[in-house]
Amino acid sequence: MTSPLLSVRDLHVEIETNRGLLKAIRGISMDVNAGESIGIVGESGSGKSITLKAILGLLPPNARVTKGEIFVEGRSLNGMSDKERRAILAEKIGIVFQDAIAALNPVLTVGTQISEIPHRRLGWSKAKSHERAIELMTLVGIPEAEKRLKVYPHQLSGGLRQRVAIAIALSGNPKIIFCDEPTTALDVTIQAQVLRLLEDLRAKENTGIVFVTHDLAVVNEICEKVNVMYAGRFVERGTVEQTFQDPTHPYAYSLLKSAPDMEHPVERLFSIQGEAPDLTKPTIGCPFAPRCFAASEECLATEPELRHVHESETACHHATNFLSQLNAGQA
Ligand SMILES: Nc1ncnc2c1ncn2[C@@H]1O[C@H](COP(=O)(O)OP(=O)(O)OP(=O)(O)O)[C@@H](O)[C@H]1O
Ligand code: SF4
Ligand SMILES: [Mg+2]
Repeated sequence: MTSPLLSVRDLHVEIETNRGLLKAIRGISMDVNAGESIGIVGESGSGKSITLKAILGLLPPNARVTKGEIFVEGRSLNGMSDKERRAILAEKIGIVFQDAIAALNPVLTVGTQISEIPHRRLGWSKAKSHERAIELMTLVGIPEAEKRLKVYPHQLSGGLRQRVAIAIALSGNPKIIFCDEPTTALDVTIQAQVLRLLEDLRAKENTGIVFVTHDLAVVNEICEKVNVMYAGRFVERGTVEQTFQDPTHPYAYSLLKSAPDMEHPVERLFSIQGEAPDLTKPTIGCPFAPRCFAASEECLATEPELRHVHESETACHHATNFLSQLNAGQA
């Protein structure tokens, strides 16, 4: 059996904050295979971006990985020098962050930025890198690519800048693309185009995609699998089809119920009361318990681990019967 492109095992990250040591990531594991698209969803502060940054070795200086192992094509990165690790990650993984304006260099033309990785990292000639930049710009749907090579980021619309960011992410021929809220700054039409582009890349180039977002509709559209994140852990994961139809964790259920459904609008949406826990304090029991309609004594005492439930994996003591608790509460 071939190894996944990327494997993450039991990743833990701590961040020094002025409130104390924050246990931001508390044991994340995941595999990314060629051609797979995996969504990571969860509310603000759940640890989505820190997970991606920890994998890529791009954590802020006050954060560090305290445990865990990362494998690229079966090769462990533990024990490698920072330089070696960064080189492997940069070769295999492209990144698109939310704010393309901030991610692009304002004083370099877009052509220079797109051809930089082929030229410097892959050692291609200037002419070949230049050709590659035109090819990538065309691939990501930037019209008149040759002419636009010479423009600066501020001369382009938000949608085109985001496409430039995707072209840069693709310029080193990565096997995986990490997208951290890549479309939230865009209007819906451009958002749909960017999503279609990512979907095309997955289908044609067999690129693995990890897509972080708040937007469940986006996950539904382009991901096959989903990881629902809460308080620094994945609390439910499975196929999008299974999880969206039949969530096995009350938080996943609540997130889905609270998302607007354009096809079946309702007057009042379900809302998740309360706040996420403060992870500078020790977690006792299930971190979702103070907000959960199905919480029991057991939930307050022991934090559940991920286990197989139906087709999914779920970290909930009441994965199979929480809906009856909800119905009983509403009766
Ligand atoms: N540089 C930092 N210094 C201190 N705390 C940080 C830092 N970066 C992130 N955190 C904290 O780490 C936790 C996880 O943050 P992260 O950015 O991963 O959240 P997120 O799920 O990506 O949220 P959002 O949806 O808002 O982007 C949060 O509690 C956040 O406040
Ligand atoms: S373990 Fe208990 S508190 Fe946590 S989500 Fe499940 S039912 Fe709710
Ligand atoms: Mg984030």
